[in-house]
Amino acid sequence: MIPLTLAEVADAVDGTLVGADPAVRVTGPVEYDSRLVGPGGLFVAFAGDRADGHDFAAAAYGAGAVAVLGTRAVDGPSLVVADQLAALAALARAVLDRLPGLTVVGITGSSGKTSTKDLIAHVLSGIGPTVAPRGSLNNDLGLPYTVLKADAATRHLVLEMGARGAGHLARLCRIAPPRIGVVVNVGTAHIGEFGSVDAIATAKAELVRALPPDGTAVLNVDDARVRAMAALTRAGIVGVGESPDATLRAEDVVLDERARPSYRLCAPEGDALVRLPVSGRHQVGNSLAAAAVARACGRPLADIAAALAESAPVSSRRMDVFDRPDGVTVIDDSYNANPASTAAALRALASIGRGRRRVAVLGYHAELGGSERAGHEEVGRLAAELGVDRLVVVGDGAAPIHDGAVSVAQWGGESVQVSDQAAAIAALRAWLRPGDVVLVKGSRYRTWDVADALRGELAGAAR
Ligand SMILES: Nc1ncnc2c1ncn2[C@@H]1O[C@H](COP(=O)(O)OP(=O)(O)O)[C@@H](O)[C@H]1O
Ligand SMILES: [Mg+2]
Repeated sequence: MIPLTLAEVADAVDGTLVGADPAVRVTGPVEYDSRLVGPGGLFVAFAGDRADGHDFAAAAYGAGAVAVLGTRAVDGPSLVVADQLAALAALARAVLDRLPGLTVVGITGSSGKTSTKDLIAHVLSGIGPTVAPRGSLNNDLGLPYTVLKADAATRHLVLEMGARGAGHLARLCRIAPPRIGVVVNVGTAHIGEFGSVDAIATAKAELVRALPPDGTAVLNVDDARVRAMAALTRAGIVGVGESPDATLRAEDVVLDERARPSYRLCAPEGDALVRLPVSGRHQVGNSLAAAAVARACGRPLADIAAALAESAPVSSRRMDVFDRPDGVTVIDDSYNANPASTAAALRALASIGRGRRRVAVLGYHAELGGSERAGHEEVGRLAAELGVDRLVVVGDGAAPIHDGAVSVAQWGGESVQVSDQAAAIAALRAWLRPGDVVLVKGSRYRTWDVADALRGELAGAAR
């Protein structure tokens, strides 16, 4: 964070200093986990269900915090506010207002925000200091927290923006008004909360509505709902995709044996060859968006292509493809799942597994609301249609995946329904052979235990 006095912080958050010297400066990080506080830091005490952050004030002071921001005064310099999240938002906004030279990039979409954010941060960091969240810090807590990592040296602030309902993105855009906005896609993630895909599209459009006239909206024109957002923004439009009218277009996409895409990046000013080190055809669109952002920040096309070639998977459990010593290839995409991202992962499995036995371990897909049954069935049908040889469906909630798969009459594969991760691991142990390719995917619920088992103990067992 940029150094601010406690008086300035209190003013920004509309809080009251108790037992604190207003002239003392906050120079260190703003943290809500007392273990992360450092010298000159500000500790934000939240009262959660399990623990009350105010009880950790002493630890925070011990680690160097100059004050504790909370809803009540603690035994030491305190900044008392009505609401910690609102205070964080206000502080983030106050910091950004003091950093006019910073370009804020906002990224939203139903799937691929984090993957795209990582690519954007990578390509922008080649032209100037760049702050981006680790993982998926994309909500009312994670976004202002990330903003507060920026300082006077920062040139680009890359922010993932998640939405679970109308007004969420508008609120995040008030905290950190973006100059560049990226919409990756509109799918069915969180449809349970939104109600319909159209409601999701309307909510995602809040990002492009918030852009200024001299800003840039980067829109995936291969997605009709995203393409339609061009009419909703005052900003300049850069369409990305494989559609002929995309400003930045991918042509001649080919996938290597790990489903890593290469393509010709075509722009009005020329072409460049892009070779991605990340797996999955869906990374073509993600990387085009990254190219568009970097281009809008002034990076030449050839440099962008070179930088993309050096991007590496940053956030864990997203298309993490690795080979075990026994020749089994594992695709760990177990961070989260919705029907669209599972479709992308199943296509990667089909591609990587060409000529090999293909196994998909699929767990529960959360937050589908009324589409829960249909969403799971669709995933199962696609797995069968793509020729997965063995499907392992984990947990009762995911059972319709099994139903969907076995409903595909011409499918020659087999599906087993197991009760939990341990049973899935046992099934794999009995069945896996060298050379197989295994995809692991689910909405948390520890489906990733299966990936970890494949990474660790099974490496020996299957040999
Ligand atoms: N453009 C995309 N289309 C579909 N699925 C994608 C896309 N990009 C990434 N994914 C997949 O979606 C899942 C979530 O990816 P992530 O980047 O964490 O997205 P988000 O931050 O939107 O949740 C992962 O399984 C990932 O492989
Ligand atoms: Mg994310």
